[in-house]
Amino acid sequence: METILITGGSGTIGMQLSDQLTAIGYSVRHLSRSVKGNEKYLTFKWDLTSNYVDPAALEHVDHIIHLAGENVGDGRWTTARKKRILSSRVDTANLILKSLKGKRLKSFISASGISYYGSKTTPSIYKESDELGHDFLAEVSVSWENAAARFKSVTDRVVALRTGVVLSKEGGALSKMATPIKWGIGSPLGSGNQYIPWLHLDDICGMYCKAVQDENVSGVYNAVASEHVTNKGFTKQIAAVLSKRLWAPKVPAFLLRLLFGEMSIIILEGSRIDNQKIKDAGYVFKFDQLTDALKDIYS
Ligand SMILES: NC(=O)c1ccc[n+]([C@@H]2O[C@H](COP(=O)([O-])OP(=O)(O)OC[C@H]3O[C@@H](n4cnc5c(N)ncnc54)[C@H](OP(=O)(O)O)[C@@H]3O)[C@@H](O)[C@H]2O)c1
Repeated sequence: METILITGGSGTIGMQLSDQLTAIGYSVRHLSRSVKGNEKYLTFKWDLTSNYVDPAALEHVDHIIHLAGENVGDGRWTTARKKRILSSRVDTANLILKSLKGKRLKSFISASGISYYGSKTTPSIYKESDELGHDFLAEVSVSWENAAARFKSVTDRVVALRTGVVLSKEGGALSKMATPIKWGIGSPLGSGNQYIPWLHLDDICGMYCKAVQDENVSGVYNAVASEHVTNKGFTKQIAAVLSKRLWAPKVPAFLLRLLFGEMSIIILEGSRIDNQKIKDAGYVFKFDQLTDALKDIYS
């Protein structure tokens, strides 16, 4: 049985992914900033500030999945938060690599973001070979992927999944969008014309499973579903699935900028993202159309 260590395994993706990996026969353990002792999965402690990783966490590990990262959408990007957003992804990866002391892995698989291409609304449909964007999250994504690439010194296979907005039952971006709609005061944000590249939680977990299992999967992949939906379209589809009426005017962009500062860029901007590469690799989506994903989540 192969062993997989997941950093940030206690989060939304990590918990479901752990269940899926266990179901297909892997032994899963987590690396976390806090260990209470009653975790569902064997959990080891690490602490970035003291450069500590419990050495037992890395014993007999075949694959590492790097999901750890300070939440990006949970508040204004103060200087301190920006530092944490970057270092919780990049310095943590560097710390693991150092702690491995040359121990070989079968693969190192890291999260990354579609924000690699920059948060902007353009007619482009971005492919993996397209250029890096020029804003804070684009810089975070490239540093994150560069940190992952350094694992080439200990494995033949490094994978990065440039992930869109993950839709799930609890928490995350979807509940932030759906809550005002449930209250009957939902409306598109800003122009409403910005795209929201998305995928269902089952699919992002399915892609991580594929990346672990398929030795031909290597390099960078966009992790988004096929249907391209704007903020306006998204809002309408959520309202339809929840049988709610939309009547309120669009939330003006200036108000969101005032409320969220620089972070508002991820709400107000977005382009389409191409997913042909992961499909060509053989990944078959469970939810490729937004209505099906929303119906599954709200059923
Ligand atoms: N969900 C999405 O829509 C989405 C979209 C694009 C990319 N991603 C990326 O995919 C990864 C997993 O996403 P998720 O939705 O599962 O995230 P999540 O629910 O926020 O979980 C992330 C985990 O990272 C750890 N963490 C949080 N802050 C940290 C810090 N300052 N230093 C070190 N570890 C920290 C936490 O684990 P412990 O408390 O146990 O340490 C947390 O459970 C993240 O890197 C995220 O940026 C997610």
